Formats: sequence, C-alpha cells, structure tokens
Amino acid sequence: MSASPVRLFRGAKARGERLAMISLYDAPGAALCCDAGVDVLLVGDSLGNVVLGYENTLAVTIGDMVHHTAAVARGARGSSRPEVPIIADLPFGGYASVDLATMNGASLVRAGAHGVKLEGAGPGALAAVRALVEMGVPVMGHIGYTPQSSLRFESVVQGKTGAAAARLLEEAGRLEEAGCCAVVLEVVPAEVARRVTGELSIPTIGIGAGPGCDGQVLVWHDLVGLTPGKPLRFVKRYADAHALLAGAAGDFVDEVRSGAFPEPQHGWSMNEAELRAWSSESEVGEER
Ligand code: KIV
Repeated sequence: MSASPVRLFRGAKARGERLAMISLYDAPGAALCCDAGVDVLLVGDSLGNVVLGYENTLAVTIGDMVHHTAAVARGARGSSRPEVPIIADLPFGGYASVDLATMNGASLVRAGAHGVKLEGAGPGALAAVRALVEMGVPVMGHIGYTPQSSLRFESVVQGKTGAAAARLLEEAGRLEEAGCCAVVLEVVPAEVARRVTGELSIPTIGIGAGPGCDGQVLVWHDLVGLTPGKPLRFVKRYADAHALLAGAAGDFVDEVRSGAFPEPQHGWSMNEAELRAWSSESEVGEER
C-alpha cells in the first residue's frame, strides 16, 4: 500500500494510537528509522543548523530541501517499510505566496515527499495550506515556537499566558479548517498542548509540548546524542553517538599513525605465481 500521511493520521487519531516521528536528512538514517518502526519521517529544515552548519533554519533553500528529501525517500524505499510517509518542510520564504507554495510543494512531492509542513497560521500560511491541499498535497501545520520566525520571538516558550494560549488554540483550529492533516506544537506548555489536542480532530505532534499530544517528534541527531553540547530541555538522548563516533575517529587516527591499520584482511594480495613472474619481469626490465 502506498504511503499516505492522511490515512495514517486519521486512523491513529481515531484509534488513540501515539505517533513517533523523526526529523532526519539522509538515506541510511531513513532506512534505519523505518526498519526500527518509526511512523513518519520528517525532512525538517533543521537540516540548516543540524547538518549544513548554519546558525538557524533561515538559509535553507528549496534546493537543499529537494536534495535531502530525495535522499530520505531513497533510504525509506530501500527499507523493510517503504510505506512510511515522508513529510518535507517548505523552507523560509518558500510559501510567501500561493504560487511559491504550490511550485515548491510540487518540487518536494516530485523528490519523494508524501506531504509538506509549513510554519504559522497567518492569512498567508492558511492560503498556502488551502492551495496545496486543493492541489492534492497533504499539509502538516506547525505552531508554537516556529524557528523560521526566530528573529521576531522574544522568548522560546510560546503560549504561556492565557491570551497567548487562546491564540494558539485559535491558530490550531484555523489550520485544521484550512485542511491540515496534522499539526506540530513546538515548545508550548503541556496544558496548552493537551487542550489543543483535545479540541482538534487531527493529530498534534509535540516537541517540547508535553505528553498530552497525539505524537512526538525529535531530531535524529538530538535523540542519538550526535548534537554536541548540552541538549535542549525537551530532548531525550537515547544514545551517546557523539562519544562513540569521536572514539572511533580517534582510534582510526591512532592506528594509521602507528601502522596498526590496515591489516592483511583489509586488503588484497597478488597470487604467488603472478607476483614471481611480475617480479622477474621487472628485474629483466631494470637490467636492460
Ligand atoms: O525542522 C524540524 O526538524 C522540525 C521539527 C523539529 C518539528 O520542524
């Protein structure tokens, strides 16, 4: 059966099943996460700060997103669960008009995405959602802390006052009404996320939004401990990949320097007869 985020989200919400989504950017990671049982893959524009070395997500282009979406799609297709839906982020500026949204949405779908995600619930974002849905592209909304608006935020946690919480509730309702099939709630108080989740008939996927959401998302590099430094409060590290990989890199350097690597089993030898013949031929050559 083909990957359908709409069917997955509707079914999960109806059955009260929690969804696990992972944000990642490459083929081997996608295959590994599909094999491990993830429900949805997100090609997030956190690509910018997590693997492209930018300070934030603002420099990420549609070209970057297409490139990495195609890689994730190849990885998922080669896994034991090719039916896992892939959602790809529309980057900053990539849905500033309905025309841009539909053109860029089409590019991401051509690259292998089964739906797109966009941030905010203002008139422009809602118009983009409607146009994409009408074109046949499932859309996931994203409210609360929206990294593409980081320049305008005064603090990270959103929805801490009654008025701000009411605004979030309204935004979530507008996104559902516009046709979104799910909504990410990022860094909002757990009480607000629980209330939004209870009022929507589409699933909420939380990140830093407490346990009351219909699902949870983490960035792959954060959850395996590949992101250096102290993790953000909402991250749970399930492995210490940074220490593991740094150890491996250090061991490689030491063994190259000491000559311990490579060993005979890491290479090939000529067969004896060929080697003898070749050695004597080159000796004759040298004598001439
Ligand atoms: O870009 C991203 O990875 C995201 C998730 C953290 C929700 O938007």
